Amino acid sequence: MIFESHAHLLAKQFDHDRDEVIKRALENGIHAVLNVSDDMKSSKESVIFANTHERIFSSVGIHPHNGKGFKEEDLDLLETLALDSKTLAIGEIGLDYYYDFCEKEVQKEIFAKQLELAKNMGLPVIIHDREAHKDTIDILSSFNKEIKGVMHCYSGSAESAKILLNLGLYISFTGVITFKNANKTIEALKAIPLDRLLLETDCPYMSPEPLRGTRNEPKNLIYTARKIAEVKQVQYDILLEQLWENSFNLFEKARRYKQELESR
Ligand code: NI
Repeated sequence: MIFESHAHLLAKQFDHDRDEVIKRALENGIHAVLNVSDDMKSSKESVIFANTHERIFSSVGIHPHNGKGFKEEDLDLLETLALDSKTLAIGEIGLDYYYDFCEKEVQKEIFAKQLELAKNMGLPVIIHDREAHKDTIDILSSFNKEIKGVMHCYSGSAESAKILLNLGLYISFTGVITFKNANKTIEALKAIPLDRLLLETDCPYMSPEPLRGTRNEPKNLIYTARKIAEVKQVQYDILLEQLWENSFNLFEKARRYKQELESR
């Protein structure tokens, strides 16, 4: 069983066959999908979406690209949406200095405010960091390990990974680790203990080999998982079991939801 920890199933790339994509995911052992939001609109839609499928969960949050137009009231609405039993996390939130879509100072402010919200609600966060490692770590460190969460689509070094692990974070890899030029990312993967790893597609982007360049979808996680098993030199089934457990350890509301379903 596989827990897909980061998908954007509401992306327009899935408009013509979303139900098929979900069906294929289930057929391939993807038994839970965390649908990740990136602005107020997608957060609202994602919570509704998660409530239409037993195996789909949601996160709510404002991506650093979408910081323009942020209002304080947005935090109140995020809080309300985060109270839903299918909302597992605040995300994706963070910093992106690669694209210039939103001023750095605004990005930092919105990131910190959403971390505060997550802390107050006892929810984990899903962190996006692109070319902003130092500021991301500085802001996270200022919370004195009171933040639980995952660094998504990890692309940093083994050294930076150790800092994140020390902060108590999980680290998640996409299909990027299957690429030919992924040496640095593979070195980082080697440095991360099995009980701190998560799996994700970040679909519709980041398709693993041999599907690189095509639209990605949750079922393709099997290629990424195989690569992780190979790098970590662990049996595929044992790896999957561990990653499944990790996901429920971090996203505690998913465990509660599952237990409730089973007790009915
Ligand atoms: Ni994403």
